[in-house]
Amino acid sequence: SVYPDQNSASKNVANRIAEIIRAKQEKGEKAVLGLATGATPVKVYQELIRLHKEEGLSFKNVITFNLDEYYPMQPDADQSYVTFMNKNLFEHVDIDAANVNIPDGTLASDQVNAFCEAYEQKITAAGGLDIQLLGIGRTGHIGFNEPGSAPNSGTRVVTLDDLTRRDASRAFGGKENVPTKAITMGVGTIFKAREIILMAWTETKAEIIKKAVEGEISSEIPATYLQLSDNVEFILDEAAASLL
Ligand code: GLP
Repeated sequence: SVYPDQNSASKNVANRIAEIIRAKQEKGEKAVLGLATGATPVKVYQELIRLHKEEGLSFKNVITFNLDEYYPMQPDADQSYVTFMNKNLFEHVDIDAANVNIPDGTLASDQVNAFCEAYEQKITAAGGLDIQLLGIGRTGHIGFNEPGSAPNSGTRVVTLDDLTRRDASRAFGGKENVPTKAITMGVGTIFKAREIILMAWTETKAEIIKKAVEGEISSEIPATYLQLSDNVEFILDEAAASLL
C-alpha cells in the first residue's frame, strides 16, 4: 500500500502490531515480534510508545527478536542496535528485558556460529515470528542479507557491502570505522514469519523499491525474494513508490 506520508504509514503499521499484541494477550499467549533498526521504523516505534503511554498497550507479553547487529559490536556503543532499540523503544515501554533478543556482537569468532543456530532455535521455541518488520538497504538487502544471499539462508555472519558501509559511515564518523561484518537473520528466517511488512520512505528508496517489487527475482537483490511470499506487504510513502 502507498500512503501519502510516512507518519500515516507508520501509524498503520503500529496499529497492526498493537492488534497482534492484544489478540495474543486475550488468548493468554505471547506476541513474537521481529524488529528492525535504521531510520525507517523509528516512527512506528514512536507510535507504539504513544499507544503504551496513552492507550494502555502493554508489552509484558511481548517477545522480540531483532533482525541483525554489527559484528563485532559492543552493546553499549552508540552505533549498536542494542542502543538503538533501547533508545527508540524498549526503555519507553514495559517490556521485560528477558524477552528482548538481539544478535550478540561481542562473541568470539569460534562461538558465533553456535550462537546463530541457537538464535534460530529460540525463535522457533517462542512459537515463530508473528510479524517481521523490514526496512530496505540501497543494495536491496533485508536485515543484512546482502546480494548473494540464498533464499533459504538462516541466521549467520555476513560481510557488508561497500555501499552499505558507506551509507552507515555518518553514524560511525567515517566508513573505515563501520564494521565489515554483521550477524543477521537469514532470508529463510524472515520468510518463516507469519506476516512480513517491508517499509520504505523517501525518494532515496524509489529505485531499489522498483527493483524489489518489479524486478526479476534474483539473489543479486535479496528483497526480490519477497515477491515469492503471500504474507508480505510493502508499505510505502508516495516518494518511495514514485517509480512504480
Ligand atoms: C541497515 C539495517 C537494515 C535497514 C537498512 C536501511 O542496513 N541493517 O535493517 O533496513 O539499514 O536503513 P534506513 O532505514 O536507515 O534507511
